[in-house]
Amino acid sequence: MLTRLLVEHDHILKTLNLLEMQFLDLCRGGTPDFSLMRSILEYIQEYPEQIHHPLEDRIYSILLERVDDVELIQELIAEHTELETETRKIRESLKLLESGVVSPEDIMKQLSEFLIRQRQHMYIEEEKVHPLIESVLTKEEWEHVQLAVPLYKR
Ligand SMILES: [Fe+2]
Ligand SMILES: [Fe+2]
Repeated sequence: MLTRLLVEHDHILKTLNLLEMQFLDLCRGGTPDFSLMRSILEYIQEYPEQIHHPLEDRIYSILLERVDDVELIQELIAEHTELETETRKIRESLKLLESGVVSPEDIMKQLSEFLIRQRQHMYIEEEKVHPLIESVLTKEEWEHVQLAVPLYKR
């Protein structure tokens, strides 16, 4: 049941790893591959926004009615919107960096917090929420939710 969620997390995590390599380049005084960074951020924005978060949001709305730790689920739902906003802000900052309006130092903190936050969100989901999904959702509900959110196509 959780395979699709795990595969989607893997896609996002691998993309974050690529972004981290560019971030480290920047920290070491190198010139990152801006075109690659743009593509990575575009993907990180589109993939969760169009596929992963809508799927989880549907699952979480079922959990909200059946689990005790409602606060945790509400926090994760709110975080989806926050992460999407952060991704937009990072894309803007990258544009400013590329055009020389801001220095690498100005965006390093933002970028490192972004990487930490994105990963932390997924760790919490896998550690705390996935066991809940497995125990609460029926196979039929899972099928239904999955069909409502198509797989990612570009
Ligand atoms: Fe999530
Ligand atoms: Fe997730």
